[in-house]
Amino acid sequence: MLLNNKVAVITGGASGIGRATALKYTNEGAKVVVADYNEEGANETVELIRSFGGEAVTYKVDVSKFGEVKALVDFAVDTYKTIDIMFNNAGISRANLINELNEELYHQTLGVNQHGVAYGIAAASNKMIGLGVKGVIINTASVYGIMASRGFFPYHVSKGAVVMMTKSAALDLAPYGIRVIGVAPGFVSTPLIKGIREVEQHKNYHMRKEFITPEEIADTVCILAMKEANVVNGSVVMLDDGLTSFKGHLSK
Ligand SMILES: NC(=O)c1ccc[n+]([C@@H]2O[C@H](COP(=O)([O-])OP(=O)(O)OC[C@H]3O[C@@H](n4cnc5c(N)ncnc54)[C@H](O)[C@@H]3O)[C@@H](O)[C@H]2O)c1
Repeated sequence: MLLNNKVAVITGGASGIGRATALKYTNEGAKVVVADYNEEGANETVELIRSFGGEAVTYKVDVSKFGEVKALVDFAVDTYKTIDIMFNNAGISRANLINELNEELYHQTLGVNQHGVAYGIAAASNKMIGLGVKGVIINTASVYGIMASRGFFPYHVSKGAVVMMTKSAALDLAPYGIRVIGVAPGFVSTPLIKGIREVEQHKNYHMRKEFITPEEIADTVCILAMKEANVVNGSVVMLDDGLTSFKGHLSK
C-alpha cells in the first residue's frame, strides 16, 4: 500500500476530484477525513470507502471560514491522532466577465478557491509543526491559474493565487520539512465543468481528445503525497494531458 496509515484531510471530498482522491487514498491504506459543506455527498463518499473496508469519516466545513478550517484540522487530529496530508481541493467555478463584475460572486469565488486554500495551508502547517510531522500539503490550482479564458475573471484570479500561495508557503514551511505542492488539472469530467458552454468541445484541448477522469487526477495526487516524490516542492504540477503545451485545436 502506498499511503499505509497516513492521515489525510481532503476538502471537496463530496464530489469529483476530492471523492476520487478519498477513494484512492483509503484504498492505499490512508485514513481520511472527507470534508465538504455538502454533508450528504461527503457521507456518500465515506459509505463508498467503508464498502471496501477503508477508513474514513465525514466533516462538514465551509472552507471560506478560517475558524471552521482550524476546527476541521483539530477534528482530524482528535480522530486519527495526527495529520500527514492536507489536500486543499474544494472549489467553485462561475462565469463572470470583468466588465460585468458581480461583487458577491467575486468575493464568494475568492473566499472558497483562494482564502479556503490559504486557511487550509495555515491550519494544517501549524498543526504539523506542533506535532513535528514532516507532512505534505497539496493545493488544487487549475490550468486556469496559468492561462486565461474569456469570461472567468474571478476563477482565474483565485487559481492564480493558488499558484503563488504554493510557492510562498513552500518556502516558509521548508525549514520544518513540510512540502507544499500545487496541481493544475485540465478539463476533468466532474460536475464543476457542466456549466461551461459547449463543454463537450473542451476535451479536444487535450492530447488524447478525451476528458481527464477524476481518478487520473487522484492517482497523481497520491504519488505526489509519497516520500518518493520528496523533490517535488513549491511546484505546480500540470495534470492537463498537454493542454498548456500546445496550441489547442477545437475543430479536430
Ligand atoms: N473539473 C475540472 O475540470 C477542474 C479543472 C481544474 C481545476 N479544478 C479544481 O478541482 C477542484 C475540485 O473540483 P471538481 O472538479 O472535483 O468539482 P466538484 O464540483 O465535483 O467538487 C467540488 C467540491 O467542493 C465543495 N465545495 C465547494 N465550496 C465549498 C466550501 N465553501 N466549503 C467546503 N466545500 C466546498 C463542493 O461541495 C464539491 O463537493 C476545484 O478546486 C476546482 O476548481 C477542476
